[in-house]
Amino acid sequence: MSYVNKEVIKNKTLKEFMEVLVFENKESGSLYAAQVIANKVLMNNSVNEETVLGLATGSTPTDMYKALIEINKSGVSFSRIITYNLDEYYPMKKSSPHSYHYYMYDHFFQHVDIHEENIFIPNGENKNEDLSKFCEEYELSIRRNGGIDIQVLGLGLNGHIGFNEPGFSMDSLTQKVTLSDTTRTAAVKYFGKKEEVPFQAISMGISTILSADHIMMMAWGNEKAEIVKESIEGQLSKDVPGTYLQTHKNVTIILDAESASKLDNDRISLIESKLS
Ligand code: PGA
Repeated sequence: MSYVNKEVIKNKTLKEFMEVLVFENKESGSLYAAQVIANKVLMNNSVNEETVLGLATGSTPTDMYKALIEINKSGVSFSRIITYNLDEYYPMKKSSPHSYHYYMYDHFFQHVDIHEENIFIPNGENKNEDLSKFCEEYELSIRRNGGIDIQVLGLGLNGHIGFNEPGFSMDSLTQKVTLSDTTRTAAVKYFGKKEEVPFQAISMGISTILSADHIMMMAWGNEKAEIVKESIEGQLSKDVPGTYLQTHKNVTIILDAESASKLDNDRISLIESKLS
């Protein structure tokens, strides 16, 4: 069994290794992302190997999780996947509906046959004095499991990846971070009031993200169009962490027509579908 997707409408390669796929809408883009993951899992399952996934939260990957749940129901087992989440608010109780821990079980884990012991999410319940040890162990654990095969990413309105905000250097590792005002404001839609949004988080580092074999970054909607353009076409800059992806050898950017609308159209060519 193999998954293919014929709905990609535009494709362009800006950097030698950066693949930008533009889909008609977020549903078809999300399905494609889920199919890439399913193919990797199927391949690894067939040789009894684990698949290590880096996972994201927020509004961007929700349809991808829905598609993955369907794929799991159709018979692709996730019993050999190991997952590392990008981030978690700090401090944050796992049981809080605002936690990314809660989000992941709600949107994905509780619906599939993943093993509890294979789930890793930064722990917002850590005591402050235990945090640096926790972060070190998170890095080691990723390495012990052979590194991340596919890292799923969203893109913040300010270009952050994970909670690595503008100004973060490319060699950052998993650590406690301070959230920018833009990020806290964007989170008001989940928390209700800005005062409720934590000021800090634990985030996988940029260097950790860039050490994944394959990175899939998704972005949807007009509000992301400008930052998508800056991240893909702009100069490499610590002011826009999304530009760091340009340095990775195997990145797939998955967009809908709206988030791709500000890209340099001359360089986007219509294709039949190289994926069919
Ligand atoms: P969003 O957030 O998916 O809620 O748009 C993306 C991000 O901040 O990385």
